[in-house]
Amino acid sequence: MCGIIGCFKKEGCYDTLLTLLHRLEYRGYDSAGIAVLSSGRKTLTVRKRKGGVSGIEGRRIAGETGIGHTRWATHGAPSDRNAHPHVCGKFALVHNGIIENYLSLKEELVRGGAEVASDTDSEVIVRLIEKVYTGDFFAAVAAACKRLQGSYAIAVLCKDAPGEIVCAKYKSPLVAGASDDALYVCSDIPALCGEAEYICTANDGEFIRIKDSKIVFCDEDGAEISKVFERVSPVLRAEKPQQGSFMEQEIREIPRALAETYVGLKGLDFAVCARELRQTKRLFAVACGTAYHAALAFKDAVERDSKIPVLCHTASEFRYRKPLVCQGDVVVAVSQSGETADTLEAVRLAKNCGAYVIAVTNIEHSSITGLADFSIVMRAGPEIAVAATKSYNCQLLCLYYLAAQLYFYKNAQMPAYYSQLCLLPEAARAAFDTFIPMRILAEKCKSARGMYFLGRDRDVRTAAEGALKVKEIAYVFAEGYAAGELKHGTIALIEEGFPVIMIATNSALTGKCENALEEVRARGAYTVLFTQDEGAMSKSCADFKCLLPSVCEELMPVISVIPLQYFACRMCIERGYDPDKPRNLAKSVTVE
Ligand code: AGP
Ligand code: GLU
Repeated sequence: MCGIIGCFKKEGCYDTLLTLLHRLEYRGYDSAGIAVLSSGRKTLTVRKRKGGVSGIEGRRIAGETGIGHTRWATHGAPSDRNAHPHVCGKFALVHNGIIENYLSLKEELVRGGAEVASDTDSEVIVRLIEKVYTGDFFAAVAAACKRLQGSYAIAVLCKDAPGEIVCAKYKSPLVAGASDDALYVCSDIPALCGEAEYICTANDGEFIRIKDSKIVFCDEDGAEISKVFERVSPVLRAEKPQQGSFMEQEIREIPRALAETYVGLKGLDFAVCARELRQTKRLFAVACGTAYHAALAFKDAVERDSKIPVLCHTASEFRYRKPLVCQGDVVVAVSQSGETADTLEAVRLAKNCGAYVIAVTNIEHSSITGLADFSIVMRAGPEIAVAATKSYNCQLLCLYYLAAQLYFYKNAQMPAYYSQLCLLPEAARAAFDTFIPMRILAEKCKSARGMYFLGRDRDVRTAAEGALKVKEIAYVFAEGYAAGELKHGTIALIEEGFPVIMIATNSALTGKCENALEEVRARGAYTVLFTQDEGAMSKSCADFKCLLPSVCEELMPVISVIPLQYFACRMCIERGYDPDKPRNLAKSVTVE
């Protein structure tokens, strides 16, 4: 959540600040702001406003050194006064994270005579810096950080130090970048692609200092830490589509994303974790949201084929449930961004308990790859839309691939579906044939007050993902769960025209799915069936039927979710919303 940036550029940093902020907008769009420091006149100019980055565009502000912020509010409503940068005396600060002890710090500051100007937790940081400042900018920031509990990535300017930015990182992401003519700090790597040529990520407790046209990492005492800057791949950044939304563009990229991910998987040396996979008697899987649904699909595959249990936890609950994780366990952590705070905490806990951690992520130099023992980096390409689509299909591919490796190390052969993985890109492309029917279905369902997505066996995961998409971007309440549970309570909500969407890809269970559809249809529901089984399709009583392309049943979740992703996107558009900017949400959830 929140994107922060800092930039030093001799020719002026204003344009670069805005370019980078636009790229970070997917991390939050409650407010945006910049502060620019000009060395000549030592002026600090701040422009900030509620709403998106375009709201702060205007006359160019002269100055070499600047910081910027795009906010996803945690403390204090989205408003002009709560927008970052926060200013106190000679200092301006942007912050990503949560200061958990901000109330006691605020009380202390108010007792000391401070007049607080916002409702945010972040403001206390800049006030602390100002309070302890005696002429040494870096020392003041380092001293203030010692008082903070929680998570933070901050970038600070000081009027006395033109050309200088001091940054600190603890549990929120921060990366440094360098090119011939500029130096940067930023919340994520993709935003820097095309600007910075070299990047280097900061670890917890490290500071980054831009000073005298140089960028250095240091510890809290200012002692330099030697770090290696790596060349950044330019392909990490997505261009905004000429027409339509990032979400639709990303759905259309699924075949390519699957193909590239498959090539990447083929080149990965799983022998590195052979010993752990061979020896483990159980696995854990941790993730949030969409990635959690992928983790559940992994559980289904492993338990079905390798016959060993996978204990699946939503990462936000993992540590509070005192999980029984210990040495010898393998923990699979799934995160598109590799920066989700809850998932990172779950990984830290698993590591502390002695478990072996395998990360599945889309971002190579993310925090999760830094923590994990082994990383599977999918090649979905940048995913900008808040609603995850292509990353989910690629997570499933990676996790099925991992499940096959596990099976191999336990049984000395690959499971039958392994040879079919290469067929997924083509099947995904064939799933585009469902898009016209999905437009029609979205048109029909656009006024629904709620809907059910049902399935059995592995289709329950797809149902849950379909429901999440509709809630997230179309703002229609949706439930996704096991069809057999209907008559244990939820069938009570069925009324005339209530959409019930059944995903039925397991041929052994299509009869049971049909029964559930009959039951809700008898009570007035508008019934929809998705299946690749033509026989089941022709016999079905459903009001709306959609034939899916066929791959082996074990892999159907990679394909059957595609029409649901597109359906959610169309529902959103039909209802007059922007699929890329769902309310209250942001792409990267770097706060707990
Ligand atoms: C998906 O549409 C959501 N935006 C959300 O559930 C997301 O999948 C979740 O926050 C996890 O993110 P991650 O994969 O980057 O860890
Ligand atoms: N806590 C800060 C605020 O509400 C930053 C939020 C974030 O990083 O998500 O402004």
